[in-house]
Amino acid sequence: MAKSNRAMPELPLVGQISDYLDKGAPKEIRKTIEKAGKHDILDPGYPYREEMDKDDYEDHLEALQLQLVRMMHDVVSTGKRLVVLFEGRDAAGKGGTIERVRENLNPRSCYIVALPKPTEREQDQWYFQRYVDWLPAAGEIALFDRSWYNRGVVERVFGFSTDHQRNAFFRQLPGFEQTLVDDGITLVKLWLNVGRAEQLKRFLDREQDPLKQWKLSPIDVDGLAKWDDYSTAIRDTLNLSHSPIAPWTVIRSDDKRRARIAAIQTILHAVDYAGKNPRAIGKVDPQVAGDPELLL
Ligand code: ADP
Ligand code: AMP
Ligand code: MLT
Repeated sequence: MAKSNRAMPELPLVGQISDYLDKGAPKEIRKTIEKAGKHDILDPGYPYREEMDKDDYEDHLEALQLQLVRMMHDVVSTGKRLVVLFEGRDAAGKGGTIERVRENLNPRSCYIVALPKPTEREQDQWYFQRYVDWLPAAGEIALFDRSWYNRGVVERVFGFSTDHQRNAFFRQLPGFEQTLVDDGITLVKLWLNVGRAEQLKRFLDREQDPLKQWKLSPIDVDGLAKWDDYSTAIRDTLNLSHSPIAPWTVIRSDDKRRARIAAIQTILHAVDYAGKNPRAIGKVDPQVAGDPELLL
């Protein structure tokens, strides 16, 4: 990975999230966080009031991970290529979900792609170029922790690219994804959606936990006040990129457990593999995951 992109957050970021909670956050968001119990779901629009039962979660996760192992064997032995995109706001749960997918898989067959911000040279290449470098060969599974969709969302909200560049991106996108699929790649696009209070609560947890502070970035802090800009950019992006050949699955992620289950189910349902057990995988909860209608 390019050494010029320093990944460590600046320590002064610690404290800025609690400052925002006290001074900048909408009052109802602050109240929601303050009065929430440990297992409560914060988003009033979420279909469940409490997180999924821990034992149920662990049992189902184990069954799904067993299916993932079978899927991996099949991908390797038949030379399939699988790309899974994990998208969503900061703290939506991309990293944790990816961890659960990858946990029991061979790192040689299944790898994570988490690219830093583009270098100067990459900035004037064809936009998709640096992502193409990381596409899987036969027998490989690539899990993208963020992806080319940065151009539609974070780059728009922060002004990292121009309108012209974004328009070109959306013009090229259908052809690009069609090309991957035509060439035999299975493309799964997951959009994790987190509510505003839950996002802020996760940032507060990161701020207080020395093991998680590294996850806080200046983008997270500066993004707090840009919630509505993100909402607009996300809506536009989903509208412009949800297509029959490359559909999105939107996953409501206020409950991390239900979100992880739904994400893995979606991946398993998308691939045919020897030993697939649809009963063990189970039906995706339509209240937790579905097409972008769920969000728009
Ligand atoms: P993450 O959420 O992946 O831990 P950040 O919140 O720091 O990382 O950044 C969000 C995304 O914005 C990352 O994919 C990062 O590469 C991208 N990004 C940050 N700065 C720039 C920039 N100047 N130009 C383009 N993309 C950027
Ligand atoms: P506006 O409604 O134009 O103020 O845009 C809403 C948000 O999106 C603001 O945070 C802008 O900075 C951002 N934005 C919109 N379009 C662009 C763009 N082409 N380049 C950079 N930032 C943009
Ligand atoms: C997540 O938790 O969604 C990401 O992996 C980390 C982040 O974007 O803040």
